[in-house]
Formats: sequence, C-alpha cells, structure tokens
Amino acid sequence: MRSLTIRKPVDLHVHFRDGAVLDAVVPHTARQFARAIVMPNLVPPVTTAAMAAAYRARIEAAIPEGVDFTPIMTCYLTDATDPADLIAGHRDGIFAAAKLYPAHATTNSAHGVTSIAGLDPVFAAMAEAGMPLLTHGELVHHDVDIFDREARFIDAVLAPLLERHPTLKVVMEHITTSEGAQFARSHGSRVAATITPQHLLYDRNVLFEGGIRPHYYCLPILKRRSHQLALREAATSGAPNYFLGTDTAPHLRHLKENACGCAGVFSAPVAVEAYLKVFAEENALDKFEAFASLNGPAFYGFAPSQTRVTYEERAWTAPASVSVEEHQIVPLFAGERVDWALSRGL
Ligand code: NCD
Ligand code: ZN
Ligand code: ZN
Repeated sequence: MRSLTIRKPVDLHVHFRDGAVLDAVVPHTARQFARAIVMPNLVPPVTTAAMAAAYRARIEAAIPEGVDFTPIMTCYLTDATDPADLIAGHRDGIFAAAKLYPAHATTNSAHGVTSIAGLDPVFAAMAEAGMPLLTHGELVHHDVDIFDREARFIDAVLAPLLERHPTLKVVMEHITTSEGAQFARSHGSRVAATITPQHLLYDRNVLFEGGIRPHYYCLPILKRRSHQLALREAATSGAPNYFLGTDTAPHLRHLKENACGCAGVFSAPVAVEAYLKVFAEENALDKFEAFASLNGPAFYGFAPSQTRVTYEERAWTAPASVSVEEHQIVPLFAGERVDWALSRGL
C-alpha cells in the first residue's frame, strides 16, 4: 500500500457560500486543508473589509471544535471599487487578494467588472502593495464560443493587463486549457494558476455520457482531452506556477438538476483524494507536496503548514450527498470508490 506524508495542503480557491450551506460545507474543507482562499461571490458580493471581516467570523464559527483551519478573505472587485479602501483592507490583514469577475462570466457575477481597463488605478495600487489579483479568465461575449472563452481572455484582456502593470501579481484561477497552462508559466514568478480536480480528471465528453450530466457542469466548462492532458502535465511538473485550488462550488441538488442548472462542482469532501488519484496515475506523487502545500503559500507569501498529514492508498466510498436542512448537495465522486484516504490517529 502506497502512502504519502506531506505538509497539510492549502486550497487556494473555495466557495463557502453563507448561512446553512456554509455550515454544511466548511467542515469538509477544514478537515483536509490548513488554510483556504475564500471567494467573495456571495449575494450581495463581499466588497468591503467590514463585510469580509463579518463573513470570516461566520466561517470561523462553522469550523469544528479542535480543527486548525484558517480562512483567508478576498475582495470582489466592481466598477466602483475604491483603490484606497481596498489597500486599507489589505494592510489591515482582512483582504489577502482581490478577485476580478468579468460581468456575467459565472455564478453570482452580475456585479462584476464591465470595463477592465477602467480599474487600472485599482490594479496599479494593488501592484504597489504586492496584493495579488485573482482572475476568472473568460471573455464573455455573445460571439465568443464557450470553449474559446479562456484563450480569448488571455489574448484580449490578461496579456494587455500584465503589460500595463508590469509588477502586478496575478493568479489565473481554474485554468482549463493548454493556452492557460503555457501562459501561467511564461511570466516568471508573478503569474500562477490554480487547477481544479475536475479539469484534471475529466474532459468534456463526461458532460454528455448517456445523457446530460449536470454535476459535471462548471465554469470554465470542461474542455477537450488535449487540454486535460496539458493540465495534468502542468500540475505534475513541479513548476512553482501551478497550485491546488479546488474551486469547490456547492449548489443545492435541485438547482443543478434543473432546466437552467447552476455551474459548479462540489469537491470538498474528496478534494485531496481526487488530486492524489491524478498524481498517482501520472507517477508523480513526489511532486504532490509542491502542488498541494508549498507553491500556493509561496506565491501568496505565507508559510506552509507545519502540520504533516499522511494519505494512504485505501479504498472508501464517497458520500452520495451532503445534507443542508431538507436539501442535498451532490459531491464529486458521489457514491463512487475513492482510492486514497487520510489516515487517522497520527
Ligand atoms: C463558481 C460558483 O459556483 O461560485 N462556479 C463554477 O462553475 N466554477 C464560480 C466560479 O468559480 O467561476
Ligand atoms: Zn471562476
Ligand atoms: Zn470559483
């Protein structure tokens, strides 16, 4: 039986939502991760330091007793973001980073940015403060094919943005294409990318296997196999530009199994295990600690966890669902075999 002992992983991209969903999902992330970067796309979005501090307190209240887990907060950028307020929130230790959602690109992005160049004063202030910009990198326009949105965003938005702001640090969130993987690596240490488990495990065929499969629908949408393979190569390369960010995105079952189903895969209950399956298949378990526990903290400038955890190759069955009051959320691998397990009693 193979096993692996590593510094406790960090999830650089999570959605906890709020209220009853938050209470149900936080323990799943806290079980496996030392810290997580929390996305701000609530309704209404987290746009001020006061909102973020209150949200952080609600997350902390949902962490099970005795579990050591730190949520790290982000600010949702809008056309009206004030650079001075944002930087003050960063200096006060509330906002680690700010998130750029192009308007209408994804879940709860209706308040997103309509004119990205219009935020240049904000990006300039962030660059000066060393505050990373996190991007949902899709160009959303009615004449852009959904499978081309990421590559078009890189050419039309991200490359010019990096040229206008040569010291701004950027995380390309949830990359899904070979173009994304290449771009993240071509700017030295100031650009990095998170990669989700589902984009490493699947290609777009899985969305239509025997019928439409809403639990595999997320944004950016799964791509063709050549892109999946490029992402697997990037994640397992050991390069510091790639790190773990699950994009765990809970939606209630009836809102995904719906005529207009929500985008997002809820991976928190099986997150590290899902990545380990990929790294084991690629014979790259020796690269896992860098991807899961070291590269992300190094990019953000915080220390890796001092706690060590052991995973072993031992089969168990993922839960079919996680309950939220009278509702359910269906996780990744629902009811399926999981090959890796966190060992207990260490
Ligand atoms: C995310 C969500 O549900 O909040 N959904 C998704 O499909 N990834 C939003 C996001 O990360 O774009
Ligand atoms: Zn996104
Ligand atoms: Zn996300």
